[in-house]
Amino acid sequence: KTVAFAGSGGLDSCTITRWLTNQGVNVVCFTADLGQPDEEDMDAVRQRMLKAGAVDFVLLPVREAIAEDGLKVIQSQACYEGRYWNTTGIARCSLTKAMILEMKQRGLTIFSHGATGRGNDQVRFQLITNMLAPEFEVYAPWRDESFLARFPGRSEMIDFCQENGLPVTATKDKPYSTDANLLGLTHESGMLEALTTPAQFVKPIMGCYPQDAPDTPEAFTVRFEKGRPVSVNGESVNLVDAFLKTNAIAGKHGIGIGTHLVENRFVGIKSRGVYESPGVETLGTCYAYLLQLILDRRAREFYDQLSLLVAKQIYQGYWFDRATQMMLAAIANTAELATGTISVSLYKGNISFVAADDVPHILYSEENASMEGVGDYNHGDSEGLLRVFGVSARVLATSGQVGL
Ligand code: ARG
Ligand code: SIN
Repeated sequence: KTVAFAGSGGLDSCTITRWLTNQGVNVVCFTADLGQPDEEDMDAVRQRMLKAGAVDFVLLPVREAIAEDGLKVIQSQACYEGRYWNTTGIARCSLTKAMILEMKQRGLTIFSHGATGRGNDQVRFQLITNMLAPEFEVYAPWRDESFLARFPGRSEMIDFCQENGLPVTATKDKPYSTDANLLGLTHESGMLEALTTPAQFVKPIMGCYPQDAPDTPEAFTVRFEKGRPVSVNGESVNLVDAFLKTNAIAGKHGIGIGTHLVENRFVGIKSRGVYESPGVETLGTCYAYLLQLILDRRAREFYDQLSLLVAKQIYQGYWFDRATQMMLAAIANTAELATGTISVSLYKGNISFVAADDVPHILYSEENASMEGVGDYNHGDSEGLLRVFGVSARVLATSGQVGL
């Protein structure tokens, strides 16, 4: 029996690989280059996984795919429960799809992962695999009684790795766990489970906290063409570089670092997370400013509903279903219009609007908005309009439905 295991090469990966190998299972380890800021040397990961018993190690290049999917998150303004840019959820989609394609090339059909039985990730891996490769089997050791009996928790895994001479860096007192990719970091569990542990207990990796940021603001400009960032601070960028560059600039100013959320997991429990996503926060806010200029009221209302739905679809692992495809088609329709240059100022965790320029589909008109006597707008025309509005307003009163 051969299993394809998705792992970062850390404690879970080593433990699961060795444990399965000891039972005569062949384990092919898949680790992805997700463009994560704390990326480990992949040769070291390969050596470690082979030492843990893997029959093969596959490095999946996923950062471009994550950047593309991350852009859709920005174009949809898909924040889960209003705070979390879904950086883990969306990256699971890019990763799982890439892994399934590679597994098919190699004739592998058992997809295995190290997500626990209490979280969202298990749901995402499962649903994505079921949708993209219905013939595959999904095997999650964390939901396997025999694995649980042997490894009730991390300490037993650390002991097991030490006994087996596997050099894992995890220690029993690693205070919380972090998931990382190009779009951001998610910190959960451990010390963070106690609400008495402050959010700033987390040591930021993508930058610093606002109070440690420079005392002078920094200008930031992004040019979007049809919804894609094509230049940052006047320099042309590809999508991966747009994220990398913005992460670096915004991280330095404490933007999107330490975002705190007690959220509703799909399985029903509440969990607490602390998030870092300086680039997505900044590009996402600039994109929001651009949308303000181009969406009319009805388009905006529809868009806002889609935005909530897309965020939920990503979070719950339904990125590849029909509903998401329908939503993304509508989002792509708005992205078509999203061309323009947005300048903001970054200062101690805050993003302030500075200017918008060269927005061909802009609806905002200084002339119409002006309080000065310019343009075609005649204040007097509003007299008749308001009398019409007044008819139904008065009926509410005369019918006794509202009043003092
Ligand atoms: N709560 C976030 C989410 O569900 C982060 C999950 C973190 N996952 C992890 N394996 N550390 O998307
Ligand atoms: C896990 O439980 O494996 C990580 C957290 C999550 O999936 O929500």
